[in-house]
Amino acid sequence: PKLAQDPASKPAKAVPALPDAQTVTEVKHWTDRLFSFKVTRPASLRFRSGEFVMIGLMNDPDPKTGKVKPLLRAYSIASPSWDEEMEFYSIKVQDGPLTSRLQHIKVGDEIILRPKPVGTLVHDALIPGKRIWFFATGTGFAPFASLLREPETYEKFDEVIITHTCREAGELTYGRELIESLKTDELLNEVIGEGFWKKIKYYPTTTREESAKMGRITDLMRSGEAFADLGVPPLNPESDRAMICGNLAFNLELKDLFENTYGLEEGANSKPAHFVVEKAFLD
Ligand code: A2P
Repeated sequence: PKLAQDPASKPAKAVPALPDAQTVTEVKHWTDRLFSFKVTRPASLRFRSGEFVMIGLMNDPDPKTGKVKPLLRAYSIASPSWDEEMEFYSIKVQDGPLTSRLQHIKVGDEIILRPKPVGTLVHDALIPGKRIWFFATGTGFAPFASLLREPETYEKFDEVIITHTCREAGELTYGRELIESLKTDELLNEVIGEGFWKKIKYYPTTTREESAKMGRITDLMRSGEAFADLGVPPLNPESDRAMICGNLAFNLELKDLFENTYGLEEGANSKPAHFVVEKAFLD
């Protein structure tokens, strides 16, 4: 039998270079402006699908003091709450303080992930209903990538509608592939029942490049075209619940439309109601 090793002779355990470090396990580049990546999940981290965490990298040393500080931004978790790894979906901004560097991460690199999930795009902030709408622009799709893989979404609602408005058609690919992957998702097919994905209606639109459906979702709703295409009535407080995640102007416009045209009330964790809003991250 092998002799037990003398613990004193073991090499010193490597000290992690970053506080709250997690290791990158996958990186995918979708367009020259968009990428997604996965990192290891801290063993003790629990979160609700739809929440966000602060992630980032260490800044360059301060030229005066030499001190290094973390550079962190709020990122929606794109993976569902049951997943072993954590996924994020990000824009690349060439002069953005964080994403100009984050876009170059590779498998095996470390990033900082503060294990304190928060957010309003959670099922707890909505009262029960028949149909749930997810409204996204650009990387605002991320929290819905989590919620679309969350069994609770299908347990609570008969119908799930996801709209995604982007400038160009290539920016829809991440979302389209994710929705396509649900058909063969073993866990969801087992837990929710085969064919659960038939509950989903996907409504992608582009505004600056030709695609099957063009226009801002806000305009398509005001004209009634979106409802006609989807074969559902306009939103109403009895049956419809909604989550919004996009750029600020989009969020404000939809909130106004919901409150003043459809009569929906904004909810929060502490006071669930008909819809919730969160701003998509922009570097
Ligand atoms: P548009 O091209 O007409 O501005 P961005 O990349 O600027 O965040 O925009 C992402 C998508 O969201 C674009 O397709 C953009 O359309 C759309 N968008 C921007 N502002 C609004 C708004 N107020 N209402 C609806 N869609 C919007």
